[in-house]
Amino acid sequence: MLSINGGRLMARINELGRTGIAPDGRRIRLAASDADKEGRDLICKWIREAGMRVAVDRIGNIFGIWAPDESGETRCPGSCGTCGAPAPVMTGSHIDSVINAGQYDGCFGVVAAIELVETLREAGIRPKRPIVVSAFTNEEGVRYQPDMMGSLVYAGGLKTEEALASVGTDGTVLGDELVRIGYAGPEEPGFLKPYKFIELHIEQGPIMDAEGVAIGAVEDLQGISWHRVTIEGRQNHAGTTPTRMRIDAGLAAAKVNVFLRERCLASGGKTVATVGTMAFSPNAVNVIPDRAVFTVDLRNPNEEALKAEEKAFLDYLKELEKTDGVKTSAERISRFKPVLFDGEIVDLVEKAAAARGLSCRKMTSGAGQDAQNMALICPTAMIFVPSVNGISHNPDEFSREEDLIAGANVLLDVISSLAGA
Ligand code: GLV
Ligand code: MN
Ligand code: MN
Repeated sequence: MLSINGGRLMARINELGRTGIAPDGRRIRLAASDADKEGRDLICKWIREAGMRVAVDRIGNIFGIWAPDESGETRCPGSCGTCGAPAPVMTGSHIDSVINAGQYDGCFGVVAAIELVETLREAGIRPKRPIVVSAFTNEEGVRYQPDMMGSLVYAGGLKTEEALASVGTDGTVLGDELVRIGYAGPEEPGFLKPYKFIELHIEQGPIMDAEGVAIGAVEDLQGISWHRVTIEGRQNHAGTTPTRMRIDAGLAAAKVNVFLRERCLASGGKTVATVGTMAFSPNAVNVIPDRAVFTVDLRNPNEEALKAEEKAFLDYLKELEKTDGVKTSAERISRFKPVLFDGEIVDLVEKAAAARGLSCRKMTSGAGQDAQNMALICPTAMIFVPSVNGISHNPDEFSREEDLIAGANVLLDVISSLAGA
């Protein structure tokens, strides 16, 4: 049984992990930043070393194209629509990160995708279908919203021009930043029509580690709703203003966070909610805030339940206007419905795990993923490996080497089978 080169996989994960380290020691590889460029340059180098051609589209998605003919020359990657070449099997993830990130989220899936092509090529195997490796732009959505942006544009769910015009949290424009870092490519997003798409990723949650399961066959993914909320109150003196006379934007914001937690508890664990950013104005110790701006991340695997949670949260903002005298507004900055992945690919993942003697369970992805957008245009599924203690979006994010290698081997088997390698 052919296996990937585990040493090379780990060396590359670690090398990519050393990019994007800020002067304060935190890993911050935000989309289209200098740090992202550093990581992208490495990915492109490895794609070429693996014998693939690099292509970049207008939203900055990077593709490694391997479409060898009998002589090993690169032929049509199966999307010209005229020469009859079969459509490619695509696999990949993202390399942008959150703030103070770990080194595995997204990066693992991209590095493993390159590794599997290199493994097949070194073994002299020529797949019937082209294999394409992808690294999508701005999966995290920390700097520019919405998240999963590159894959969303690729799948036709967001217009390229609209995405390029996104203004970041730092006031930059994504399109300008992609030009600046040299990753505003010429290809039209969607230029390769995949036959199937598979994403390998760390679980980022505690289930597999707790159960001692090696492989997750991801069959669905929960819905995600993001809002930016602004609450306006009245700025006043912290010492002299009687409690009954306050219109405190900070207090109202805190109440929203408590309200969301109560909804989560009442949902029996189905709903999760996070207030991950919060800014007060004027932000001074002895001044009642006149403004609070914060984000709400709401998730639920069921679309109707997620809609109900959104309504409850928006109704609560209106209620606060009556009870607390504040003004509120909420802007929806990202929204994804729950996604059901392709059952046949899920079966293939389970069979591939069994053939390697690995334990496997079906999973729901709690995290947003590029795969959810690729599912809009072709049969798609995901493979998970365990995250130790379920820690992610944190520098302590860790997955064991043997689990990463096992996951990459399952990806190798699934892609080989789909590509006829
Ligand atoms: C992506 O990491 C997400 O927010 O789920
Ligand atoms: Mn990810
Ligand atoms: Mn992430």
